[in-house]
This record gives sequence, structure tokens and C-alpha cells, in this order.
Amino acid sequence: MDKTVELKTERLLLRPFRKSDADDVLAYNQDPEMGRYAVGIQPLPYSRETVERLVAMFADPPEGQGILQMFAIELEGQVIGEIVLNQWEEYKRNQRADLSYTLARPHWNKGLTTEAARTVMDWAFNTQDIYRLCAWCDPRNTSSWRVMEKLGMKREGLLRSHLFWNGEYRDQLWYGILRPEWEKLE
Ligand SMILES: CC(C)(COP(=O)(O)OP(=O)(O)OC[C@H]1O[C@@H](n2cnc3c(N)ncnc32)[C@H](O)[C@@H]1OP(=O)(O)O)[C@@H](O)C(=O)NCCC(=O)NCCS
Repeated sequence: MDKTVELKTERLLLRPFRKSDADDVLAYNQDPEMGRYAVGIQPLPYSRETVERLVAMFADPPEGQGILQMFAIELEGQVIGEIVLNQWEEYKRNQRADLSYTLARPHWNKGLTTEAARTVMDWAFNTQDIYRLCAWCDPRNTSSWRVMEKLGMKREGLLRSHLFWNGEYRDQLWYGILRPEWEKLE
């Protein structure tokens, strides 16, 4: 991960995490609704100890864990979410990266995740050796797949009961965009 990368969007600053972001991250990880369809390290709410460990890892991702770039989503001085580009070894070999995101509930449905994710997608195709950017979500997570569609990703398939998380089998809905498709976007 390049710890010097900062991206500005119309309303947001996308920047590396700092350990001092723990209070903000703790606040949005108290709401169990945030985790209804998302898969995390454990079910919400997170304890302060968990968040401090998580934010320390976000701020300085260990090599070999597959984090290509990790952005804190900052609005008016407050961290309200995360965007991650993952590239595990197999993804790297295939010039592929995976995009995922989380935004604090009070800010939902204002187009903020789409705005942030579009900027990260453009950064990824402009600066990284990737041919395919993909993302997945639980098919019940309408907001999440809407973001993927607004980014210009195509719906590619549904993997049935592909995950077992928090006591239930979950389907995965996959989306992706290829470099030539991204080049043709307005
Ligand atoms: C998924 C998430 C990041 C979306 O963030 P967001 O900032 O609200 O997304 P945006 O506002 O950019 O786009 C959401 C879109 O979904 C639409 N939407 C939301 N709920 C909907 C519903 N029930 N039916 C139809 N459309 C819906 C919104 O109208 C919007 O589309 P539009 O701009 O065409 O109107 C946010 O809901 C979140 O953090 N959820 C919890 C964590 C999570 O699930 N992360 C994703 C894991 S895969």
C-alpha cells in the first residue's frame, strides 16, 4: 500500500487511516444494521479493543495480506467509512483487484459511496496494473449492488450459499468491469 495517496472527490477526502480515527470507526460499528448483509471480522457491535486493532491494521496493513490500497472516507473532518482495494496473490497473477466499501448509516443514500468508489476505481485503473476490477455483495444488499451498477460494473453471476457467516449460508452476487469497458465510460 502507498501511504502517501490522498484522493479528493466533490464532497470527500479519501486518505490513509490514522490510529486517531478509532473513535469515528467505533461510532459507526456500533449499529448492527451496518452488518446485516456485510461480512466482517466478527458480528457488530465491535468493542473499542477490536476497533483499535482494526484501525491499527488499516493504518499499516501487513505485507502479504492482500491489501492493495485502503482509504478512510473523510467528510468534514470526520471518518464516515472505508474503501478497500484488495489484491491477493492469485488476483495479482491475473491482474485483478477487488473493491469493497462501508459507509456510516447516517450518510446512506446520498451518493457518497458511489462518489468515493468511482474515484478509487479511476485511481486503480490509472495507476495500477489491473485489467479487471470486481466486487461482490449479498444479493439482498440492494444499496451495495446499486453502487456497483452506478460504477458501470456488469452483473456476472450468483454463487449460491458460497459463504457461511453469522449463522447462515449466504449467496454472493458478483459484479465486474474490465479495463476496455472502463476506458469507454463517460
Ligand atoms: C452499501 C453502502 C456502502 C451504500 O452506501 P451509500 O452511500 O448509501 O450508496 P449510494 O448512496 O452511493 O448508492 C445507494 C443506491 O442504492 C439505492 N437504494 C438503497 N436502498 C434501496 C432499496 N431498498 N431499493 C432500491 N434501491 C435502493 C439508493 O437509492 C442509491 O441509488 P440511486 O443513487 O440510484 O438512488 C452502505 O449502505 C453500507 O455501508 N452498508 C453497510 C455495509 C455494507 O453492506 N457494505 C457493503 C458490503 S458488500
